[in-house]
Amino acid sequence: MGNRMGYMVLLLTGSIVFLSSCSTVGMHERHEKMMAHHKEMKMHHQDGKMMMKMDGKACPDSCAMMSKVSKAVAVLAPTAGNAATGIVTFTKTDSGVHVVAELKNLAPGKHGFHIHELGDISAPDGTSAGGHFNPAGMSHGGPMAGERHGGDMGNVVADDNGSARLDYVDSHIKLNGPESIIGRGVILHADEDDLKTQPTGAAGSRIASGVIGIANPN
Ligand code: CU
Ligand code: ZN
Repeated sequence: MGNRMGYMVLLLTGSIVFLSSCSTVGMHERHEKMMAHHKEMKMHHQDGKMMMKMDGKACPDSCAMMSKVSKAVAVLAPTAGNAATGIVTFTKTDSGVHVVAELKNLAPGKHGFHIHELGDISAPDGTSAGGHFNPAGMSHGGPMAGERHGGDMGNVVADDNGSARLDYVDSHIKLNGPESIIGRGVILHADEDDLKTQPTGAAGSRIASGVIGIANPN
């Protein structure tokens, strides 16, 4: 019985440390708390009562939340009155984040494509996703520009069948840290992003939207 209580206390402590590590405290403090949690998990494992390893193969879902994100995904659904759909993946590489989008049911031609500040896609017209994600406080620009919003992915180009594919490596997008795109929105626009009009690129209405979530890296 005493053992069981001790185990419960350890479990609670571990949970509190983990929850604390999720709050927006300094990176250093957060790192220390993660390390403290790391020790907790090992104690549990040594205790033989918990099948949890921080760096082993048999890792439950909660481990994925504590390790660094290496891949993210957003599934785009059409806004009211539109038909565009698609999937965009963001994969960490040595040279930046590899962005691959496969979209369909678009009008042929260029369409602005951005990460927006909010992952709130509840509004029928997609406006609840807010403006372009701009953690560095920069002006709007093209994906290859030095001065651009973090969320500026430029345009996708739909062919005569309404299909578009975007495939490039982005040097601004981040999957981890305070500027992470996880939980933000992805918006596909009706019109072309001119890559210069502030702060929107004059890309017109929002025809599809999605929320960026953590993807299985394997
Ligand atoms: Cu946009
Ligand atoms: Zn922008």
